[in-house]
Amino acid sequence: MYNVAILGATGVVGQEMLKTLIARKFPVKELKLLASSRSAGTSVTFDGKTYPIEEATPEAFAGIDIVLASAGASVSEKLAPHAVAAGAIVIDNTSFFRMHPDVPLVVPEVNAHHLDQHKGIIANPNCSTAPLVMVLNELRKLAPLRRVVVSTYQSVSGAGKEAMEELREQTRAALNGETHKPEHIVHPIAFNLVPAIDSFLDNGYTKEEMKVTNESRKILDEPDLAVTATAVRVPVYICHSEAVNIEFDRPVSVADARAQLANAEGIELMDDPANNVYPRPMECAGSDPTYVGRLRGDVSHPNGLNLWLVSDNLRKGAALNAIQIAEALVARGLLKARQEVAL
Ligand SMILES: NC(=O)c1ccc[n+]([C@@H]2O[C@H](COP(=O)([O-])OP(=O)(O)OC[C@H]3O[C@@H](n4cnc5c(N)ncnc54)[C@H](OP(=O)(O)O)[C@@H]3O)[C@@H](O)[C@H]2O)c1
Repeated sequence: MYNVAILGATGVVGQEMLKTLIARKFPVKELKLLASSRSAGTSVTFDGKTYPIEEATPEAFAGIDIVLASAGASVSEKLAPHAVAAGAIVIDNTSFFRMHPDVPLVVPEVNAHHLDQHKGIIANPNCSTAPLVMVLNELRKLAPLRRVVVSTYQSVSGAGKEAMEELREQTRAALNGETHKPEHIVHPIAFNLVPAIDSFLDNGYTKEEMKVTNESRKILDEPDLAVTATAVRVPVYICHSEAVNIEFDRPVSVADARAQLANAEGIELMDDPANNVYPRPMECAGSDPTYVGRLRGDVSHPNGLNLWLVSDNLRKGAALNAIQIAEALVARGLLKARQEVAL
């Protein structure tokens, strides 16, 4: 049994972490919920149980075995080293440590073996990267990957609880012929699309787009893999969708790709276009698998394959993957419970 802290426990990811820990029966001895000073003294109720929220301070990690962090990059930058110094392992959902050479970036179905090199901090990938590498990892078993072109359709929950409220308010305002000023997404998102997530870089890409490129290469251990992304925010509450074009170094048939994905752990094929069956965010929200459909050959390239995937960004893109990492640490004997609890 382990002492677990959720850092960012009042956020959409933090709440999903709490739900997932309970649903997967992770062996929790003591649970500590941490958030900003704004929430300290409040509580959250889940499954009939009320949990107090405490302020996240450098001292808050005494006696904790494992920290599930999702309170933003600057908070992880500041607090993760204190948690590690206190003897905890930090599984960090923010972007801060992902590309650090000493920090494994892990999707357990793909590269759980990277956990063996951890030095206290393990990073969880971006919510679009996780489902993408699940699919790429399976398909590269059929033929080496040459190039990946991906366009993401990312839900507002990927930008946190305030962005979800913004979509709600803007939708209500628009239907009443009014306007609601954007504060958390750069432009109005209700009845709209915003092709800009995170800030722009000198190369013309956004940071979000380069996260998909760089993180995919790191997780797949393919530092030279050609990956190019366009990330778009869409007026959907939960689930990120991705249109993916993959070029292999030789032709891969749709039948082989289908068979490979149909047997893959964590992937569910939803591919019967004649009967209008393909993954859709509203129907996939609240479930664990990465759903794949619209598999078809690429008419523009003999070695190309197109597909469409949908995945719950709060689950496989965040909380589920983080807790699967914790489970993998336990399974690999890398997580030792404290003998003495000092909570
Ligand atoms: N949403 C996703 O799909 C997703 C997926 C992968 C990764 N992530 C990453 O996970 C992190 C959180 O995302 P989210 O969507 O859950 O955001 P959110 O709903 O806005 O929640 C943010 C959480 O961080 C806490 N927090 C903010 N400032 C803090 C501070 N100074 N000290 C301690 N806690 C603080 C908030 O506490 P208060 O309530 O007290 O303000 C809240 O619990 C981000 O880094 C995000 O990039 C998100």
